[in-house]
Amino acid sequence: MEVNLNEAYRLFPAFPVTLVTCGKYETTNIITIGMCHIFSFSPPLIGFGVAPKRHSFKLLKEHKEFVVNLPTKDLADAAMKCGSTSGKTTDKFRHAGLTKIPSKKVNTGSIKECPLRFECITKQEFVTGDHTWFVGEIVHCEAEEYRKEDLLLYWGGEFRVPGNVVMKRA
Ligand SMILES: Cc1cc2nc3c(=O)[nH]c(=O)nc-3n(C[C@H](O)[C@H](O)[C@H](O)COP(=O)(O)O)c2cc1C
Repeated sequence: MEVNLNEAYRLFPAFPVTLVTCGKYETTNIITIGMCHIFSFSPPLIGFGVAPKRHSFKLLKEHKEFVVNLPTKDLADAAMKCGSTSGKTTDKFRHAGLTKIPSKKVNTGSIKECPLRFECITKQEFVTGDHTWFVGEIVHCEAEEYRKEDLLLYWGGEFRVPGNVVMKRA
């Protein structure tokens, strides 16, 4: 069966759901991002794609720091709210019932309810088709206790959680 090329990306297996916080601390915004990846181990680089029409796009261009917060499954509703409203008109911390806390190394808020928080300084930006990738160096990482199987994944319009281990790398 031939797949419509504009829909083919939806067949890719799960990406992590990330809640990226951006902008200055006082006005920190949250954007739900599915297009997120590790770009380098050393230096540790993490990046994500943002469409130019997002309010977060403007904030990321202006303020060269961000935090990649990883939510657990109990935050699925919050992730949907942060991914369907604009920070231009909505305080997403209030709207999604999330708590803003100071980050350790960057002047952007972090999300208390997320057990993994990667604080980054933007190092590169590049355009790929309809998204711009913001790649940042991880300058601090906070990890609270969490279970791998509770982290949220996104696959073709569905929120999922990781499944079973089938093999370990030698
Ligand atoms: C599960 C999910 C994944 C998303 N992934 C992306 C993404 O990778 N890049 C992007 O630009 N928008 C993505 N979005 C859409 C933005 O989160 C959404 O447009 C948001 O309202 C933008 O907020 P802002 O205007 O405050 O920046 C995603 C939304 C959801 C629900």
